[in-house]
Amino acid sequence: MIHSRSAFTKTQLTDLFNQLVEHVDQGIRVIDAQEQLIIYNEKMRAIESMSYDDFTNKGLMEAFQFNDERDSRLLQAIKYGKQSLNEKQTYFTYLGEEVTTINEAFPIYSHGNIIAAAEVAKDITRMEKLVRENRKKKENSLFTFSDIIGNSNELREVIENASRATRTSSPVLIIGETGTGKELFAQSIHSESDRATGPFISQNCAALPETLIEGILFGTVKGAFTGATERAGLFEEAEGGTLLLDEINSLAPALQAKLLRVLQEKKVTRLGDTKERSFNVRVLTTMNEDPVEAIAAGRLRKDLYYRLSVVTLLIPPLRERIHDIEPLTATFIAKYNTIFQMNIENISVQLERRFLSYNWPGNVRELEHIIEGAMNLTIDEQMLQVHHLPPHFRHKTSKKGTLSALAQNENAVDLPTHLATVEKEWVQQALKQANGNVMKAAKDLGISRQSLQYRMQKFHLNRDPFLNG
Ligand SMILES: Nc1ncnc2c1ncn2[C@@H]1O[C@H](COP(=O)(O)OP(=O)(O)OP(=O)(O)O)[C@@H](O)[C@H]1O
Ligand SMILES: [Mg+2]
Repeated sequence: MIHSRSAFTKTQLTDLFNQLVEHVDQGIRVIDAQEQLIIYNEKMRAIESMSYDDFTNKGLMEAFQFNDERDSRLLQAIKYGKQSLNEKQTYFTYLGEEVTTINEAFPIYSHGNIIAAAEVAKDITRMEKLVRENRKKKENSLFTFSDIIGNSNELREVIENASRATRTSSPVLIIGETGTGKELFAQSIHSESDRATGPFISQNCAALPETLIEGILFGTVKGAFTGATERAGLFEEAEGGTLLLDEINSLAPALQAKLLRVLQEKKVTRLGDTKERSFNVRVLTTMNEDPVEAIAAGRLRKDLYYRLSVVTLLIPPLRERIHDIEPLTATFIAKYNTIFQMNIENISVQLERRFLSYNWPGNVRELEHIIEGAMNLTIDEQMLQVHHLPPHFRHKTSKKGTLSALAQNENAVDLPTHLATVEKEWVQQALKQANGNVMKAAKDLGISRQSLQYRMQKFHLNRDPFLNG
């Protein structure tokens, strides 16, 4: 509420208001009585991966591809003064960031008339994550390879490599975008190894401040720092089992150095203690970016990377293994049929087409959320259809939504795709010239052997075709 004593001019007030709206951490969208978009703040644009342009000269019905005005809470608010509250939605931004919001929509009055309608999306992502992680801990039954759904050769290959890794206690580095199933793989490796009877402990390295995480990993003694108590670290707690360090590239460099020492010496010292304790723990790690880029950007220590990547599993994003979409969809429909007591049998051809052409920044997790959300909107139906999709998703998977102006030209590709193509050609070329000698090809390319091997895996290149005779 702006105080009536404020001496601001109208322009200053407008500036103040605009910057505030742009800055807040809640998504805001406002339409006027003509149903034109008048406020669409930064947070909301990020959540929905849309811009003002997507709405230019378009009503909400068109931009979001609503079939029926009843689908839009904003239209219900502007036309009939209806208020809607507390609707939970999960979105994936174009960067693959998961955002869970509680949305409400309400009319805005001036002198008793409705002049606008607003939609506000409160970000509850952090809370949602905590709840999910706690639930997972309580459920306590670990995944096995049979829980990993998918028929694509790409996925089958990762499963094969992961199964092989169950026979040893070597470290495994699992690389994949968010929601590709890194945790699923880590748990499967543990539960099918002979450590299965031991503990499986997982710790996200990004979730906590540096000072805390050090104590959590290595343990503390009373008085090590203010408030410190005598406590075993995760290395001790995982004795005889497996420790999963999630998002290792988020660990501060100093801690990465310390972790490396601990792994090399197979001994840990609690913070503030002098006594060294040996441990028998298998260490699995995950990261969601190219390790070579992480090393170049200083987010990952090279020596630690070599130590952790004895076995590397690269899980391709869902868009690169579209054969998995159908079986995953069937699995999630069956899951929510049971939970919701429904009888969905299949999905429409149009919906399937959208699933196959979408780029899935949130990968399998996003697919599951979309199916759960869509099933919430069915009423005694047997088929999931496009109009059951949440509006932002419907927009993103529509022709105009998915393709930017550049990509609408069939031959044009975006920069990352182009760079990847060039990169693959160079790697192929170098391998060919070196007759499949990885060491030599790496040298010619001016990169390390590990880095070349990572790229060969990424592009599914085998050295054999490059061997002469
Ligand atoms: N191939 C699959 N088959 C069945 N379920 C899958 C598959 N891949 C992922 N999932 C499901 O998708 C969700 C996300 O998987 P998971 O938590 O393993 O992803 P992640 O790679 O660890 O993601 P993040 O980087 O965000 O932590 C989970 O509910 C998981 O069960
Ligand atoms: Mg994970």
